[in-house]
Order: sequence, then C-alpha cells, then structure tokens
Amino acid sequence: MCDLTQTLLKDTSDPKEGFLSLFHDFPNGLAPMAGFTTAPFRSIAARLGASFTVTELVSARGIRHDPDLHRSERYLHPTTGDKPWGIQLFGFDAEDFAFAIDRLLSDPRYRDVSFIDLNMGCPAPKVIREGAGCALMRDEDLVGRVVEASVKQAARYLKPVTIKIRSGISKEHINAVRVAKIAEQYGASAVTVHARTLDQYYSGHADWQVIRAVKEAVSIPVLGNGDLEKPGDVEKMRDMTGCDGAMVGRAARGNPFIFSWLKEKSESAVSLLEYVSTEDWFDVMVEQLDASIELLGESVAVREMRSQFAFYLKGFSGSSEIRRKVMEPVTREGVLAVLEEAHRMREQAFLLYLNR
Ligand SMILES: Cc1cc2nc3c(=O)[nH]c(=O)nc-3n(C[C@H](O)[C@H](O)[C@H](O)COP(=O)(O)O)c2cc1C
Repeated sequence: MCDLTQTLLKDTSDPKEGFLSLFHDFPNGLAPMAGFTTAPFRSIAARLGASFTVTELVSARGIRHDPDLHRSERYLHPTTGDKPWGIQLFGFDAEDFAFAIDRLLSDPRYRDVSFIDLNMGCPAPKVIREGAGCALMRDEDLVGRVVEASVKQAARYLKPVTIKIRSGISKEHINAVRVAKIAEQYGASAVTVHARTLDQYYSGHADWQVIRAVKEAVSIPVLGNGDLEKPGDVEKMRDMTGCDGAMVGRAARGNPFIFSWLKEKSESAVSLLEYVSTEDWFDVMVEQLDASIELLGESVAVREMRSQFAFYLKGFSGSSEIRRKVMEPVTREGVLAVLEEAHRMREQAFLLYLNR
C-alpha cells in the first residue's frame, strides 16, 4: 500500500477493520443494481433492515467528462437514514477513478458517504466493450493500478474503498482469489464476491465455494453474494464460506422487506404474503413512488417506477393482469388507482391463504 494511505489511515482505523467497523453485527446489504437501487429504494431498504446500501454503478469517466455531474447526479443521491451507504464507480482507467473519487468526496453533498465501491463484476456488453466492469478481471495489473489510485485518493478523505468482483471470466478462468489478493495488497478494505463467472451472466447457480476460497486467501473482510433469497440462505452461506457479510440483489427487487425476512428461522418461516401485511406493502410502494416523484418529477418517475412495480406486484392471484395495468398510467393519480386495485386483490389472496 502507498505510504500516504498508510499514514492517513494509521490515525483513524486499520483499513482492514475499516469496513466491518461500520457495523454492529454480520452485515447483509443491498447489492448495487442499475435501475433499481435508486435513492428512494435504498432509503426504504435501509430502514427495513438492509445493513448498508450501494448506489448503482456510476461511470468514473462520465464524472471526469462532466464534473458538474449533470448526467450522474441523479444516481448519486445519498441514502437517507443512519445506515452506511456506498457509491459504486465503474471504469477502466486509474486516473478516471482518482478524479471521480476526489470530485465526489470533496463535494459536501457526498461527504457522508461511508465507502467507495469499485465495480469489477458488471457483465453488460456495453460496459465490457470499453474494458470496464468485469473486463477489469482480465487484466490483473490494471486491477492493482485502479485500486491503488482509488485507495490513495479516498484515503485523503479517510474513506475506505471496497471492490465487487465475480468468480472470474469463465469456468476455465476463475481468478477471484488472485484479484482479491491484489486488491488487498493495494489497500482495499473489503471484497464482495458475486460467485458467478462473467460468461454465466446471471444464469446457473452461484458457486459459493469460490467465496470460501477468497475468504481463506485474504485477511480483509469478504462479503458473499449470489442467490440469497429465502430464510436460512444467509446462514448457509456463512457456514459454507466463513464470509464476513453478504449482499442481496435480485431478491430485493420489489421486496425491501427481504432483509428482515431472511433472518427468520428457516424451519418456522412464514411466506412473504403472510410476513408482510398488505397495508405495509402498499404504503412502501406509495412511499417509493412519492419519493421518486420528488427526485425526478411526476412524468419521469411514473415511467421509471414501472419496472419496480413489475416486481412489487407479484405473488397473488391476478397479479399478472395488474402488472400489465400498471404500465399504462402517466400520472401519480393513475398509478394510485392501479395500486389500490392491487391492494384489494392481495388482501383477498391473503384471506384465501389463511382459510386454505
Ligand atoms: C438489474 C440488475 C442490475 C445490476 N446492476 C449492478 C450494478 O450496477 N453494479 C454491480 O456491482 N452489480 C450489479 N448487479 C449485480 C448484483 O449486484 C448482484 O451481484 C447479482 O445480482 C447477484 O446477486 P443476487 O443473486 O442476490 O441477485 C446487477 C444485477 C441486476 C439483476
């Protein structure tokens, strides 16, 4: 690790302790998801039990080319409440990362961010083509340069840097352990492993053994990610891998209640329909809609909330028809009418479920 980083961090906390010291117990956070982990959703998830949240990926080069943040500001809004939150950056050039980190951390609006996360796992073709996201894992020297430059810059503001990687590029090229060791060597404070390879995209199963291999190889905290979706899963991952924390992605879409539900004892866990009352479920949807309107204006928010509602409106009879209906309204009032209909249908489904 560079001397400057060591000197700066010595006075505060050991970077290896830095990330875990943000939490009182085993952290289970909301994984970054483009289009989903908006500030309103992050804030709701944090209130309902996510130990921490992370913005969706934001382009480091985009920030360098647009330092007034006209295009990226909307993704960077802080999570409200007192839970730790991170900003995730993606890119392919160490200097871009350094610039972006300095630009953000010197801005009073982002002063309270808890950590900076570096994206090394995105498989989207548009991101891979420019050599960013999971493409970074193909160039381990570049991983070192990116982490070193980022840690050095973030250390000036006493903020830890974490990385989020995949298992590797393909099953013939699993290099999560090597990448995690390089990141540790250059001062990263934690590593999250999404235990799929780049060429798996989101298919197949996550191979948690890779998380275990990374945990055994490094002494910085390792967070496990991939396929956590029902009560008992987090404990299973923890037992199998020894991981220090976890992140939940897809299962949280349209379901910010999942963080507390996952903590239910698996043997006695009730279904989500029973766990979350229709009232709470409805109120959270309206809360997210209204917070999004405040941030983006009614017309944009109503359209962008459609993909989020497609996930909320699931799991009761008639929900596919409601999902189709919620794509149509262009005003808050119109959306509310559909949500109220959904409320009636879910409540009916719940009563049928109780009398089954
Ligand atoms: C729609 C979508 C968007 C995503 N966007 C990001 C992103 O911006 N940054 C990132 O590191 N991972 C992103 N991911 C990956 C998730 O953070 C997570 O690693 C992955 O979904 C595996 O976890 P899960 O099985 O709990 O979903 C995204 C995943 C999905 C489904």
